[in-house]
Amino acid sequence: MIIKTLDIKNFRNYEYLTLELNDKINIIYGQNGQGKTNLLESIYLLGFTNSHRSFTSDTLIKSGEDKAIIKGKLIKDIPYNLEIEINKTKKQVKIDDKIINKITDYIEKMNVIIFSSEDLDLIKGSPSERRKYFNLELSQLSINYYSALNDFNKLLKLRNEYLKELNQNIPIDLNYFHILTDYLINKSVFIYQMRNKFVEKLNKICPPIFKEIANIEGFNIKYHPSIELENFDKETIKKALDDAYNNYLEKEIRLKSTLFGPHRDDFTFNIENNNLREFGSQGQQKMAVIALKLSEIEVFKDFKQTSPIILLDDVFSDLDNKKKNNLLKYIKGDMQVIITTTDLDSIDKSLLTKAKLIHIANGQILEKEVEK
Ligand SMILES: Nc1ncnc2c1ncn2[C@@H]1O[C@H](COP(=O)(O)OP(=O)(O)OP(=O)(O)O)[C@@H](O)[C@H]1O
Ligand SMILES: [Mg+2]
Repeated sequence: MIIKTLDIKNFRNYEYLTLELNDKINIIYGQNGQGKTNLLESIYLLGFTNSHRSFTSDTLIKSGEDKAIIKGKLIKDIPYNLEIEINKTKKQVKIDDKIINKITDYIEKMNVIIFSSEDLDLIKGSPSERRKYFNLELSQLSINYYSALNDFNKLLKLRNEYLKELNQNIPIDLNYFHILTDYLINKSVFIYQMRNKFVEKLNKICPPIFKEIANIEGFNIKYHPSIELENFDKETIKKALDDAYNNYLEKEIRLKSTLFGPHRDDFTFNIENNNLREFGSQGQQKMAVIALKLSEIEVFKDFKQTSPIILLDDVFSDLDNKKKNNLLKYIKGDMQVIITTTDLDSIDKSLLTKAKLIHIANGQILEKEVEK
């Protein structure tokens, strides 16, 4: 999948920008605070409709303006145009100038993997960051996961409101509460199964990549659901959740919160049985995330039969030469890659000569150098 052109209007610090992209490697460079990340964010948003960093429309729209528009011409088998318009209150998406009302029909069209230096902290970060990460990746891979997660979040919010009312002794329809819990369990089953499947798949691809990068055997990712599960069969998950909700209802009422479910899961990255979070060096943690990201590309290709567009936000400056070269080896293939950096010197020469260089300053393109 390739994005050929990008048009931005009133997005972040961009008033207007139109950009042609190279099919392979693009390097966006410029000083701090000039709009490099914003540019990648616009591409991510065009594909996924949500930003990877901020979820309020206000911050996405250029200060003082009412709406932001991002357009892109994409090529998969046949070319098509995507467009997203962001208002203060809503987002509207179009494919080939036709308004698409069902968001799930839209976000399947473009696949993007973003890799930013914050990702390198995934292992050190909190469980909620790891859940967010897995949710984003799975949502891109499976529209059904995206829908199930949205439904789950709505049901969870409702259930928590009921728990709050029970806590305050407000009489509620308990039948309804139990039906709601059943719905929540049904959505959870699917989420658990998908997370497990994804981790299983990653565990096939990731360890050899980690071995190659870090020269250490035994890398694995473990999925830790918030309830104990012997397996991921539908009935097993249903029963475990049902038992947990029955046994701990009083505690849930006391704490006014749903204590079990996919919103409480975690994932660990390990060498054999040692969690890299506690045992790994910083370098090993970073290499694990790189291996994870690189595996993701493979999973995408497998699931979607096309390469995703790869966005690398300032990851090179954080890595030593060896890690850099290993990362490069994997991304040099047939994928479109868009890289940002403040320092062109941090980029491998062989990459520079093949790349389209785009110099950004204060939300504008300063100069362009076409493919050499
Ligand atoms: N809604 C907005 N309206 C106007 N400007 C904005 C808006 N949101 C962010 N900005 C500006 O965008 C700039 C930051 O852009 P961005 O994060 O893309 O920088 P960057 O080039 O990636 O920098 P760095 O190298 O430090 O990562 C800041 O100057 C910020 O004030
Ligand atoms: Mg940045």
